[in-house]
Amino acid sequence: GAARYEAESATVSAGGTIDANHAGFSGTGFANGANAVGSYVEWQVTGPASALTFGYANGTTAARPVDIAVDGTVVATGVPFPPTGAWTTWSTVARPVSLAAGAHTVRVTATTADGPANLDYLDLSR
Ligand code: GCU
Repeated sequence: GAARYEAESATVSAGGTIDANHAGFSGTGFANGANAVGSYVEWQVTGPASALTFGYANGTTAARPVDIAVDGTVVATGVPFPPTGAWTTWSTVARPVSLAAGAHTVRVTATTADGPANLDYLDLSR
């Protein structure tokens, strides 16, 4: 099974907001990270998990790459969040992970000046 962590319950770095103006999201909103290198969204999660799945939308024509860090250690660099065609078209990006039982942080940090895609949720699957 999967456990869902909504982005509206995550920590968003300075300049980011929790928005609800593009329909189709899960929960009550999504994280609109600042358009800047280093802009991040961080979730507090509970393992174990073998995969991370991010719900997102990217209404531009360029990918919005991020580094993914677990407990402060980067585990994946430059993970592209490709265009979805519209800000109201939501898709997923998944990455395998080895997350032990217990509390962890998962942070995605934008590596380009565009910032991250709009992030809807993080699912942890066993
Ligand atoms: C638009 C869109 C936002 C999005 C932003 C961006 O302003 O409405 O939801 O976050 O573009 O480019 O990041």
